[in-house]
Amino acid sequence: MAAENSTDALVAAGVRTYVPNYAPKPVVFDHGEGSRLWDVDGREYIDLGTGISVNSFGHGHPGLIEAVTTQAGRLLHASNLYYVESTVRLAEELVEATFAERVFFCNSGAEANEAAIKIVRRHASEAGRGPEEREIITFEGSFHGRTLATVTATAQPKYHEGFEPLPGGFTYCPFNDPEALEAAVGERTCAVMLEPVQGEGGVTPARQGFLRHIQDLCRRHEALLVLDEIQSGMGRTGKFFAYEWEAGIEPDVVTMAKALAGGLPMGAVLVGERASGALTVGTHGSTFGGNPVAAAAARVAVRLAGSADLLANVARQGDAFRLFLNRINAELGLFREVRGRGLILGAELAEAYEGKAGALVDACADEGVIVLVAGPSVLRLLPPLNISDEDTGEAASRMERAFRAFAAG
Ligand SMILES: Cc1ncc(COP(=O)(O)O)c(C=O)c1O
Repeated sequence: MAAENSTDALVAAGVRTYVPNYAPKPVVFDHGEGSRLWDVDGREYIDLGTGISVNSFGHGHPGLIEAVTTQAGRLLHASNLYYVESTVRLAEELVEATFAERVFFCNSGAEANEAAIKIVRRHASEAGRGPEEREIITFEGSFHGRTLATVTATAQPKYHEGFEPLPGGFTYCPFNDPEALEAAVGERTCAVMLEPVQGEGGVTPARQGFLRHIQDLCRRHEALLVLDEIQSGMGRTGKFFAYEWEAGIEPDVVTMAKALAGGLPMGAVLVGERASGALTVGTHGSTFGGNPVAAAAARVAVRLAGSADLLANVARQGDAFRLFLNRINAELGLFREVRGRGLILGAELAEAYEGKAGALVDACADEGVIVLVAGPSVLRLLPPLNISDEDTGEAASRMERAFRAFAAG
């Protein structure tokens, strides 16, 4: 029989007791430091997945640990019936550092987008627009979450199957197609919502000019611009928010989560001047939203994500990973395209390997590198934003071995 805390015993217990909506690898992680992770058998990995863009500042960051333990020793929770210093300070710091006038805190990306949807609808309602004039436009290939409203905002049918009837009031447009959008936006539109770099849908950045085009259309039709920066924000692309890569963008609502608290669950909705009064007392809430411990961590994470040194490292390491992927691809012909920005990178498999991104992830794990997929045919890298030159080099060597083994069949 397997020892009590062996990989086999823990995996078997998880398989037996978890609702089977995930398909975890039979690996049990024990601890991490910087860009490295160790499983319970002592095997070491370089982590280029960061828990799906959550552990963006590496594992065991001393600043995060200090903030979390100090706050945990003072107060774990108080509720939104009162104020707590760490949450108030975080809100102040986000308002100071961004376009936002006000902030709403929650616990996850889906909750942040759910709140954003309520905010834009309520804003339209306050302007005297009826339910049929509160349509939200989203984009094919998007991913906005798994609650019923956010999964409906997610314009990918595979996420909808079996959950109908879905909430109404969402219209889908092709991504990066200004003409199609122009035809779709109208009197009924209350908001356009998108990820500046589509993550789960395949790592696809908005083309230069697309955000500006959307913003102009929104202004013309009195619709709000909602940007989902849950995966692309917090320095991931080399700027604090990915939308900053295009000049002159002033969103009305931006949603954040994932790396916001450096590994603890936290979401936030940043609201600009137009919609800052949309949610009045009693219209929305969350028991855990703005949790003091998560907020203490987020204050550290937000400071790290805004630092010039970290953003410069994202650009440098992003270039190094791209260079590596393109070099190895020139030799092996694995990929149709390498794309992304900063440290959100996608490598779409060539036709001969279509649908095999999962097998490539497994080949990388065999060599001691954690990478992800974005759909069946895209390999996705989301390395820690503070990864060192040495770890990037070592990860590339390991991936090269994995890619060669994969290509050899
Ligand atoms: C862009 C984007 N929006 C929303 C979500 C949903 O976030 P969560 O899983 O925290 O609910 C995700 C998660 O992958 C995401 O990438």
